[in-house]
Amino acid sequence: MDNLSDLNENKALLQKAHEVLSNSYSPYSNFKVAAAILTQSGKIFTGVNIENLSYPAGICAERCAMSKAISEGEKIFKKIAVVSSANTFTYPCGICRQFMSEFMNNDSEIILSDNDIIKVFKFSEIMPYAFDSDF
Ligand code: THU
Repeated sequence: MDNLSDLNENKALLQKAHEVLSNSYSPYSNFKVAAAILTQSGKIFTGVNIENLSYPAGICAERCAMSKAISEGEKIFKKIAVVSSANTFTYPCGICRQFMSEFMNNDSEIILSDNDIIKVFKFSEIMPYAFDSDF
């Protein structure tokens, strides 16, 4: 894919995430997060953070989107865009990176934005030396 269509794809994915940001259930942190995944087969799945009065029961937007995709039979993710109410670059937390490591290739991409600025990372950049095992 050339640079322009890549940029358009990234913008479209960020837009999809922005569209569901208001669905975030985050009354405890007041920090809304949304994610949109483009799977290898070309489907898009979105997710939001869902908090709980029992704090650890909450789930991040990225794992919400990944769970939706996986439960629909999608197991390889090409890209994931993440946005938040902070309107600044919102990097996936460590638990989400570990969760992603099962479903992303090293060249799968993380798309973040700060209003007009878009940053693109390879998964291997944000998750070097990921846990691996033969069992
Ligand atoms: N959160 C996410 O949804 N994704 C992340 O990668 C980091 C944190 C959520 C969890 C919680 O609902 C809120 O942001 C504040 O930590």
